[in-house]
Amino acid sequence: MKSKTIVIICLFCAVTALALSPPALIPAPQKMELLEGRFSLGPDTRIYVDAASRETGNFLAAKLRQSTGYKFKVVTKYFSSQPVRDGILLTTKSAGTNLGPEGYELTVNTHSIVIRAPEPAGLFYGAQTLLQLLPPEIFSTKVVASFDWQMPCVQIADWPRFKWRGMMLDVARHFYDKPEVERLLDQMARYKLNRFHWHLVDDHGWRIEIKKYPKLTKVGAWRSGVGFNIDPKSTTAYGPDGRYGGFYTQADIREVVAYAAARHITIVPEIEMPGHSLAALAAYPQFGTGDGPFTIPLQGGVNPGIYSPAKDGTFQFLDNVLTEVFQLFPGQYIHVGGDEVPPGPWEKDAACQALMKREGLKTPAELESWFIRRIEKFVNANGKILIGWSEIASGGLAKNAVVMDWIGGGKEAAAAGHNVIMTPTGFCYFDYCQSLDRSLEPHGFAAYLPLRKVYSFEPIPADLTPPNDSYVLGGQANMWTEYVASTNHLEYMIFPRLDALAEVVWSPKESRNWEDFQQRLQVDEQRLDKLGVNHRHDNSVKLGEWTPSQLSSTNVTLEWDVTGKVQGPGQYRVTLNHDHGDKGLTIVSLALLENGHEMARDAHAGYTGIEQRKPVYVLDLPTFKPDAHYSLQANVRGEGGTDSYGSVGWVFVPKK
Ligand code: ACM
Repeated sequence: MKSKTIVIICLFCAVTALALSPPALIPAPQKMELLEGRFSLGPDTRIYVDAASRETGNFLAAKLRQSTGYKFKVVTKYFSSQPVRDGILLTTKSAGTNLGPEGYELTVNTHSIVIRAPEPAGLFYGAQTLLQLLPPEIFSTKVVASFDWQMPCVQIADWPRFKWRGMMLDVARHFYDKPEVERLLDQMARYKLNRFHWHLVDDHGWRIEIKKYPKLTKVGAWRSGVGFNIDPKSTTAYGPDGRYGGFYTQADIREVVAYAAARHITIVPEIEMPGHSLAALAAYPQFGTGDGPFTIPLQGGVNPGIYSPAKDGTFQFLDNVLTEVFQLFPGQYIHVGGDEVPPGPWEKDAACQALMKREGLKTPAELESWFIRRIEKFVNANGKILIGWSEIASGGLAKNAVVMDWIGGGKEAAAAGHNVIMTPTGFCYFDYCQSLDRSLEPHGFAAYLPLRKVYSFEPIPADLTPPNDSYVLGGQANMWTEYVASTNHLEYMIFPRLDALAEVVWSPKESRNWEDFQQRLQVDEQRLDKLGVNHRHDNSVKLGEWTPSQLSSTNVTLEWDVTGKVQGPGQYRVTLNHDHGDKGLTIVSLALLENGHEMARDAHAGYTGIEQRKPVYVLDLPTFKPDAHYSLQANVRGEGGTDSYGSVGWVFVPKK
C-alpha cells in the first residue's frame, strides 16, 4: 500500500514536471501562459469548423492523421463559439480584432482546444502552433502506433512582429522542380513565413514559360553543364538531350501559387532586369546591349549581358513578359531585380550614350533608374507594386518602389517614405557557410554566416526612428544556389538558420533569448528529422570563453580544462571565435596537454575578430588516457586593444 502511494505521487510529479516544461515553439509566441494539465488527442477527438475555418480544419486533420493514423472527423457548420468537449474548435467568432490579420489565440484545456482568430491566416498559424505543442513524432510521415499524443495546457495570444516574413529561392542557378519547391513551402508554413520570393530568372537560366516568347525556355532554360565545379551527379535536373536545367510551365506555376496560398504564403516572382539577363538574351539577343552573342555561363560573377534600353522593342518585350507574369501571380508585388548592373556595356554603347544625352542622364546608375522608372510605370498601371534590390536607388528611386536591401540603402529609403525589406548579406544570406572550419562544410561560398548571427539580426536599421521604422515591412532569408544543386544540400543550408530568421521576424524583439532558442531548437531538429528534412546539426563541443580582462597587448596563455571532453585518440579541430567587441585576437599557437605534458600543437598564424584568418587549429592526439587530466592552451594577444569576447569549441574527428 505504502509503495503504491509513492508510485502514484512520483507519477504525479513526473506529469506535473512535464506539464510545466515550456513547449518548444519556434517562432516563440508573443504571450504564453502554461496551465495545469494536459490534453490527450485520441481517435474520438473531433475538429469543429465554420465556413471561415474549414480549410484550416481540413489541413489540420490531414496533418494529424499522417502520424496518429486517426481519421479525425471535421464537423462543419459548427456555428457556436463555445468550446466542445474532446474537440478542437477553430473559429473566427469572438476573436480579439487587436490580434490583427495574422494573429490568433490558442487555448488548450484538459478537455478542449480552441483556436480563435479574426482571419483565416491566424487560424492557420494557430494550427501550426498546435502541432508544435505535440511531441515531435506528430511530424512523422508514417503512422506511429500506440503513441500517447499529449500536449500541455496553455493559453497563447500571438501575432507577428513584421508583415513581411520571407524566404527567397534562386532556381535560376540551379533548378528545383515543383515538388521540391512545394517541400520548401511546407517548411516555410511551419515557421509562419508568408512571402516566397521566387528568383525565376538570372544569367544561368530562365525558368518560367512565357507563351509569347517560347525561346526563353527552349533556349534560356538549358545550359551545357551543371557548372560551378559541382559534381554532375549531385543533381538529376537534365533534359532529354543531356543539357542541365528545367523550367515551370504556366500550369506548374498556377499549381505552386495555389499550394502556397493554401499555406497563406504569397509568391513574389522575380524577373531580373536590366542585368543578370544572359539567359533571356541568349534566346533574344536583339534586346541586349551590343551585338552579342550572349551565352549562358557555367560560372558565377557579374556578367556583361544586360538589356539595352535604347533598342527598339526592349520595353515592349519586357512589358509583354510581365503581362504574362501578372496573370500567373495574383500577389501585389513583382520583383524586377536591378542588382549588379555592370556599367561597361552601356558606357561603350553609342545608342545608350545617345539616350543618356537625350534624357539628361549623367551616369549608368541614372540610366538604370530611368529604366526602372519606365518599368515601374507599367507595373503600377497594372495595379502592382515594384520591388528591386538596393541598387535601384543608386541613381534615384522610382516613385512607389520598394527597396530590398542587401547592401544598404534600406534605411535611407525608409527615411524617405519608401517601404523596404531588409535582407543584409551579413545576416540573411544562407548561401554563406555555417562554420569557420571549411573542411566540415560542403562545397560553397566562402563567406560565413553562423546560426547565432542570424538570430542576432535586427530588421529595423539602427537610427531609423518612428514613424519611419514602420516602412520596414520585415526581413527575408536569401538562398542563392550557385553552389547548391540538390535538395539535400539546399536543406542543409536553410535549416536550422530558417528557425532563427523566423523568430527574428515573428517574435517580439524583447523576448529574443539565444540560450532559450537553442533549447527549443533541439526539439525542432527532432521535428525536422521526423519530417525527413535535412539540416545542419552543430557537432561542436563548447570548451570555454575569454573576456577582455584575460587579454593583453603582449602574448598571454589562456587555458581551459577539457578533461571529460577528450573522447579518444583522433583529431581535435579547435575554432577560436570572436563573438563581440571592437578588437580581435592574434593567435600564436594552440596546444593540447595531458597531465601537463604537451601532446599536440598547431602554431600557424591565425586571427579572430570581425574578420577571420585561419582561426581553426588542428590538434592530433595519438593516444588517449581515460583517467588523465587534459587542458587546452592558447597563446594569444589582443590586436590594437583588448576588447574581445569570444568562445572556443572543437569538433572531434575520431582516429580511423
Ligand atoms: C544579390 O545578392 N546580388 C542581390
